[in-house]
Amino acid sequence: MNPEVKERIDRLAREHRLTAAELKALIDSRTEEAAEYLFEKAREVRRQYYGTDVYLRGLIEFTNYCKNNCIYCGIRRSNARAQRYRLTQKQILDCCETGYGLGFRTFVLQGGEDPYYSDDAIVQIVSEIKHRFPDCAITLSIGEKSTESYRRFREAGADRYLLRHETADEAHYSKLHPPEMSFQNRMRCLRDLKALGFQTGCGFMVGSPFQTTDCLVEDLLFVKELQPEMVGIGPFIPHSDTPFAEKAAGTLELALFLLGVIRLLLPSVLLPATTALGTIHPQGRELGILAGANVVMPNLSPRDVRKKYMLYDNKICTGDEAAECRMCLQRRIESIGYHIAVSRGDFIRGRKAV
Ligand code: 5AD
Ligand code: FES
Repeated sequence: MNPEVKERIDRLAREHRLTAAELKALIDSRTEEAAEYLFEKAREVRRQYYGTDVYLRGLIEFTNYCKNNCIYCGIRRSNARAQRYRLTQKQILDCCETGYGLGFRTFVLQGGEDPYYSDDAIVQIVSEIKHRFPDCAITLSIGEKSTESYRRFREAGADRYLLRHETADEAHYSKLHPPEMSFQNRMRCLRDLKALGFQTGCGFMVGSPFQTTDCLVEDLLFVKELQPEMVGIGPFIPHSDTPFAEKAAGTLELALFLLGVIRLLLPSVLLPATTALGTIHPQGRELGILAGANVVMPNLSPRDVRKKYMLYDNKICTGDEAAECRMCLQRRIESIGYHIAVSRGDFIRGRKAV
């Protein structure tokens, strides 16, 4: 391996930071050999915090109505071909019940930005889940809200919040989103969430249209600066009913490389091997774990709505029951020498004695 590349990876593993120029060089000069070396370092760093534990998050996609019109997303409001659905509070609680029995101790309520669910409704759902499953963590992933709304969700018992920043380059942001959406508000939301004490997740798509290495460097610097507890990344995958239908998908190779880099930038971050990763390659999630990820997020949504939550084409697991995905993932994780932990899997600040 090029000694300069090795030196950069060693320093990243030791100091958990690199300059913008170094990150750019690392990404642009990556080779298969460098990636393998990076992944080894990433696995070692992760082991110090989390051993061989992989955490489960039960994803409940409770609405695919969305008032937004993100250019890349299959459930954007202009997609008249999306078949819209909403789950009732009872259906959501039933998903939690099933999930609890399968060993899930985190429920992620994810949806489009759907004004049908008022803040009161979200507060009620969160309170009810917390009341019934007091040993579980609740993650919300319902988009941009006011500071006051976030405060109310937190007070109701929500522990975590996922809001990918999508890209940390403002000019790039405006190429992925319609003019009425603002990069500044996205950033405001993320800072609010951190300040309110949510375990906060940001993240971005890899290989989204118009993305350059400089955009990715901005993403990595932003991630380092925000110090989120979670980072969700996955390849961009085109959806045929969006304006980006003909754009190229992101690659597995670059997504994995960035997972390794993020593990070294933020050693104890909770890092999912995402569904998008599993969609572009049959072993994408296993490879993600081997590159430094430590979370998987199988779907707990009722089977009959799964095909409708299509953010991108060919999404996996849309025909499977929750129990099937749970067992499938367990098999996959164990096949690579890791194991699924039945626990909330909270963010660890100090180093675990393993
Ligand atoms: N390809 C990959 N990821 C996508 N997302 C939305 N649309 C796509 C797509 N076409 C991601 C976004 C969003 C998350 C829920 O899903 O990053 O934040
Ligand atoms: Fe859903 Fe494998 S994780 S079928």
